[in-house]
This record gives sequence, structure tokens and C-alpha cells, in this order.
Amino acid sequence: MNDSTAKDVSSLLPTGDRMRALVATGIGGTECLEVREMPLPIVVHSDVLVRVFASGINPIETKTRAGSGMAAVVDHPFVLGGEFAGVVVKAPFELAEFQPGDEVWGMLLTPHYQGAQAEYVSVPMMSLAHKPRSLDWTAAGAVPLAALTAWWAVVEAARVHSGQRMLIHAGAGGVGHFAVQLAKFYGAHVVTTASARNHEWLRELGADRVIDYRNERFEEAIDEPVDVVIDLIGNVHDNTGTRSLSVLRNGGLIINVPTGSWPTMHEEVAAAGRGLRASVLKLSPEGRILRTLAQLFDQGDLRVHVDAVFGLDEAAAAHERIEQGHTRGKLVFDLRP
Ligand SMILES: NC(=O)c1ccc[n+]([C@@H]2O[C@H](COP(=O)([O-])OP(=O)(O)OC[C@H]3O[C@@H](n4cnc5c(N)ncnc54)[C@H](OP(=O)(O)O)[C@@H]3O)[C@@H](O)[C@H]2O)c1
Repeated sequence: MNDSTAKDVSSLLPTGDRMRALVATGIGGTECLEVREMPLPIVVHSDVLVRVFASGINPIETKTRAGSGMAAVVDHPFVLGGEFAGVVVKAPFELAEFQPGDEVWGMLLTPHYQGAQAEYVSVPMMSLAHKPRSLDWTAAGAVPLAALTAWWAVVEAARVHSGQRMLIHAGAGGVGHFAVQLAKFYGAHVVTTASARNHEWLRELGADRVIDYRNERFEEAIDEPVDVVIDLIGNVHDNTGTRSLSVLRNGGLIINVPTGSWPTMHEEVAAAGRGLRASVLKLSPEGRILRTLAQLFDQGDLRVHVDAVFGLDEAAAAHERIEQGHTRGKLVFDLRP
């Protein structure tokens, strides 16, 4: 229960039954992106209505817009965006944990819920947490989906622990830069791949070793086998997934995060023998994890890097940037009133 005194949020309440939102109008290029008036999200059960102040941009949005990702299950126009930070404007009931005026962050299970790149989101209490005090709005809005993914991969799936040797592909990206920090925080020896311009920064975040994937074969550079590979690339680039099997110790585990990026993974892992294990990963948007992550940020044990901030009307430029595949950390939309 939140016992803070009620705050006046009247200036943040919706003025009608519609809101401004970024939508994909169909499947295609960035010409399918439009800022439109859309119906307010439906608030039912223990949903909380939040005025969004910032919403991070993730590759799933560009994939869905272009026809993969969640494209098979979305109706158009489709409000984009999976993560946000904002202010509660309507609580589900008087004694609920989240009350008007609370600063929160969360993740939405789209397309079951309407996306976050809009003035308002309706979000289940269980997918919400209080925003870390140490982060400003754009930084906080850029965290939840990417950091939850890193948490599910490193903590829940890989069971990170002291001394564990972990290779994280694409350590400089949205998910990767959180994965590197979480793995290091929980005591792993962290090896990661990135282009040279990101090496010093990744070492500052805690990487023990950074391999320049453009100039070195990582399987040749790694001389001691690793226990776990967190694969944020798959076989879409230079057979990164397949090549990773050779750096795993016997009985080691590979976790493939970009769903569909390596369709033959299980067959290849079985054929390799040596007791290797493999899993894809799908994350669950749990507020309990966001609470722990908020604590790590406020303690100074986790940082977010915001590469660029966009307005909703700059969505085409933001999508093009994500599709180039070389974002450092995160991109984010600023939706403050
Ligand atoms: N299953 C799930 O629930 C789930 C959840 C979240 C994300 N994902 C997927 O996971 C993937 C990663 O997401 P993200 O948000 O971290 O992406 P991102 O931020 O767009 O990743 C960009 C990073 O990838 C690096 N990179 C590009 N090619 C590389 C290569 N061949 N080797 C090593 N690094 C490379 C770039 O580093 P350089 O600039 O140094 O090259 C850049 O920093 C995406 O495919 C995303 O859709 C899945």
C-alpha cells in the first residue's frame, strides 16, 4: 500500500476519450508510421492508468512494423511501444499500491495491451513498479523491456553466479549493456563482443574482455571455454549462434534471445553432443523484477546509456536508426506534456 498523500494530477488527466499515439498503419517501411488520435486504452480489473512521459524503442517494434516480430497477430492501426515511465493518473482502487501522482515504470505485453508510445497506457499492477529516483524521465523510460530481458537471460535462465564464465554477444546494445552489468554485478567473468568504438565503454560497465567481432573470430580469441553464451544475434549475422557452440564447455548452455534468428539451434546443439543445452528466451513483464532493478539503479550498481531522444513525430528516423543495428544502449521517445 502506498501511504503518500494524494497528489493533484488534474493537469495530466485525459481531456476526452482520445489520445495522441504512434501507430503502425500496416506492414511496410517507415512510411507506415503515423502519429494519430487513437481511443484511450481500456482500463479493467487491476489496471492502472498512466500518463506516459517517456517510452524506449526496441527492435521488436521495427520488426513488427516490417512484417515479422508480432506482425502475424496485430490489428492495424497498431500502437507501438513496450516500455515506459510516467505518472499514475488513475488507481484501480483506493488501497492499491499505485496511486495518482506516483512516478512509475513498466512494461506492456503488447498486443494484449495497447502500446506505450502514446499519451496514456493501461497497465496491470503486476507489470508496474515505482521508478528509480536516480533516473530522469527519458532514462527511466528506456529501461524496462530491455533490462527485464537481460534479467531473464542472465539471472533467471543462466542462473548467474560467482566465477561463472559468460559470453554475451552484442554487449553494446539495449539488452546487452544491461546483461553485461548484471552478469558482472552477480560475480560472473564477462566476455562480450562489440565493435572497437564500444570497447572502452563496455570495460567501464564491467566487461572483463571485449572482442572486436569485426576484426577477430571470437571462437579463436576465447582460449578458455565459457559456461554460458547469451546470444543476442543468432545466425542472422555470420553464423554467430552456430559458431558459439565451439566456445562452450561440455554441458554448457546457450540462450538465444532474438526469437527466430536461429531456427535450427536445437538440432545443431543435439548434433554437437557434449551435453550442451540450449534455450530460446521469452520474457515476462514482472513488477517484482522492476522493483529489484530500480534498487540496483538507485544504489549505483546499474546504469542506462541513452544514445538519442526523439519526439513521436521523428519516429521514422528512430526506426531507421534501430534498423541499422548499431545503437549504443537505448533510443527513447520523449512524451512529456
Ligand atoms: N525474446 C525476447 O523476449 C527479446 C526481448 C528483447 C530483445 N530481443 C531481441 O534481442 C536482440 C537484441 O536486442 P537489443 O535491444 O539489444 O538490440 P539493439 O540495441 O538494436 O542491438 C544493437 C547492438 O548490436 C551490436 N551488434 C550488431 N551486430 C553485432 C554482431 N554481429 N556481433 C556483436 N554485436 C553486434 C551493436 O554493437 P556495435 O555497434 O558495436 O556493432 C549494437 O550496439 C534483438 O534481435 C531483439 O529483437 C528479444
